[in-house]
Amino acid sequence: MSKTHSYIKIDPWKISEEGFDPKRVKSSESIFSLGNGAMGQRANFEERYSGPTFQGSYVGGVYYPDKTKVGWWKNGYPEYFAKVLNAPNWIGMDLFVDGNPLDLFKSKKVKHFRRELDMQTGIYLRSFEVEMQSGKVLDIQIKRFLSLTEASLGVIQFNVKVLQGNCSLSMESFVDGDVRNQDSNWDDPFWNHIETEATDKLIGIHSKTNKSNFEIFTYAYTYFEDSKGKAVKDNTLITSKNRLAHLLDCQLKTGESCSFVKLGGYINGRHHPSITFKAKAIQLINNYSDKSFDTLAHQQALEWSKIWEDADIQIEGDVAAQQAIRYNIYQLNQTYNGKNAELNIGPKGFTGEKYGGSTYWDTEAYCLPFYMATKGPEIARNLLKYRYNQLEKAIENAEKLGFKRGAALYPMVTMNGEECHNEWEITFEEIHRNGAIAYAIYNYERFTGDTQYIPEMGIEVLVGIARFWAQRVNFSNAKKAYVILGVTGPNEYENNVNNNWYTNYIAKWCLEYTLSHCLKIQHENPTVWKALTVKLNFVIDELNEWKEIAKAMYLPKHPEQELFLQQDGFLDKTLDNVNQIPVKQRPINQHWSWDRILRSPYIKQADVLQGFYFFGDHFNHQALETHFDFYEPLTVHESSLSPCIHAILAARLNRMNQAYSFYLQTSRLDLDDYNKEVEEGLHITSMAGTWLSVIEGFGGVQIIDNKLYLNPKLPNHWSALKFKLFFRGTWIQVKVSKSGVEINKNNPDVKVICQGKTY
Ligand code: BGC
Repeated sequence: MSKTHSYIKIDPWKISEEGFDPKRVKSSESIFSLGNGAMGQRANFEERYSGPTFQGSYVGGVYYPDKTKVGWWKNGYPEYFAKVLNAPNWIGMDLFVDGNPLDLFKSKKVKHFRRELDMQTGIYLRSFEVEMQSGKVLDIQIKRFLSLTEASLGVIQFNVKVLQGNCSLSMESFVDGDVRNQDSNWDDPFWNHIETEATDKLIGIHSKTNKSNFEIFTYAYTYFEDSKGKAVKDNTLITSKNRLAHLLDCQLKTGESCSFVKLGGYINGRHHPSITFKAKAIQLINNYSDKSFDTLAHQQALEWSKIWEDADIQIEGDVAAQQAIRYNIYQLNQTYNGKNAELNIGPKGFTGEKYGGSTYWDTEAYCLPFYMATKGPEIARNLLKYRYNQLEKAIENAEKLGFKRGAALYPMVTMNGEECHNEWEITFEEIHRNGAIAYAIYNYERFTGDTQYIPEMGIEVLVGIARFWAQRVNFSNAKKAYVILGVTGPNEYENNVNNNWYTNYIAKWCLEYTLSHCLKIQHENPTVWKALTVKLNFVIDELNEWKEIAKAMYLPKHPEQELFLQQDGFLDKTLDNVNQIPVKQRPINQHWSWDRILRSPYIKQADVLQGFYFFGDHFNHQALETHFDFYEPLTVHESSLSPCIHAILAARLNRMNQAYSFYLQTSRLDLDDYNKEVEEGLHITSMAGTWLSVIEGFGGVQIIDNKLYLNPKLPNHWSALKFKLFFRGTWIQVKVSKSGVEINKNNPDVKVICQGKTY
């Protein structure tokens, strides 16, 4: 069934790789990453490996404020850039064969190497046959998962079979605090290990991050599993500074095998007081070491089956597309489970260090709809609450930049509400992020039907954002309109431009939207309104001021055509299409100097078109077509967030071939490593964009005037598409096939308008 498509095999449920190639190790470490929402890790080998590797194991919400490093300091820059931390290693299992370490990089021969991630069960497997330098041959099979029910538990089963020669085996299964981040500004030590614990039942390291003082306990316990899956608890301890191991020995003859099971992971001080660390680890070990690996794996598969029940998308007639969407859904579920409003979704999730593990506008602009529709309103509310809880910091952030009276500027990049980014053109200028945060509140309300969030919390965020826009604009006497000067739009290949259309448009919308909600609360709930006016210190006429600004907001337009311009002066550029750039010079951000990029007309990612996507119902088909035809040919899609938006818009324009090719680009970005950078980690937030491109692109889901529309259009070779959405308290199941659309829902009050017909 499977055929080769890059080196990852095509299969509807499995991600697999065959053959050992040291050059692929780092990429596969990203692709086969595991996570359970609370912690996550790259698919590093358990046993010793001396070849090139990128070690990474991360704990949700645990970071180090690495002191900013810039060439030229600018006032207003943040002091630090939060870094997600490579945490102590708990998976390490060094296998010694007659005293010699197993190391695939140095072994004589490796045969039948295979990695397989079974997305249905959540189990990751690696197997191979290895010939040691001594000529002894072993068959190894390792399975691993991070428990979905126990946030702090990971499980590994390491099976060894001797194929040739009698062997004396020693398994040194360890926890190791001697870890580093690849990305570190000043080579500071990020961790301080304060205590270790070593008994025959538990090895553990209690560590504290420097400066940020997060505490974690990295623990493990390893035992033999006999042929009936029963634990045989017999080990010796090896301890050295910050590295503790359980040693298990055995003798095997040709044909014999043995199995080691390791339980371990991190107990996070954010959820468990450090005084309980040891007790919690012992409790986990006691509870789980009596169950066989297969029993634990079975429980894990049950948890995944619950997730798939709600989140699966089925595509018939295209296995590559099917595999890709499942992979994206799988990774999104590994990254964030919404149980904790303190956590968020970093662009690389738990799969790498890039972007510091911090929160970007990606969450609101791309990720929220996925969690909202597949996990329900509470989980989505937690994503909104994350920003609500950081409102005070956003106000402080705006104050640092000279804004007043409760104006809030949310950071471009953050862990705890404080800005971390330190490039002036982004930190100070990419202010459109504020708009996405307001948009998410609107998107949440219209999708979930939860009308309480705004009066309870959302309104405070909206007011802070509206105040920011009201102070950020200035009235231009020349234009007789309000303008927004010196910004960077979503297209980061233009900096310090005036009147970026997208920014001005979303600012205008934010003001109008906030105003409408203020008036609604005033009218429907005068007591709440009164309390708000006091809490938020409303000044007389503030609402009128917003109204005036929104009405007179300047939106740059082509002088002769019905076309919005990306920014003032855009037409001065030489508007050559992207296909005039020699292939060898792509991506331009790796080949061109920055000034050349800035002077070029090339667009990194959807900018004006991002606005057409968000506000699809504000523009007609003709306007969308005109803008798509003008801007897409200038777009280099050098952000992973770009193809998904273009897939949706192309589908809205009935350009199904183009929509499909954008879809493949977004959905198989990591599996096929389109950008030749997957070794740095996966593009987690753009995976949510992939989901959008199926649901909103091919499924044609849109909310217009408070009504849910479905306008499905499938790529020609898809015979069917099935998905489910949790819309306003009801599961809506949709099946689109050549014979038509079937909609099932269990609440007759929820209306769906499909191809013009109301259900
Ligand atoms: C994009 C941003 C995005 C960030 C993190 C950048 O390349 O231009 O829009 O927020 O990556 O995904």
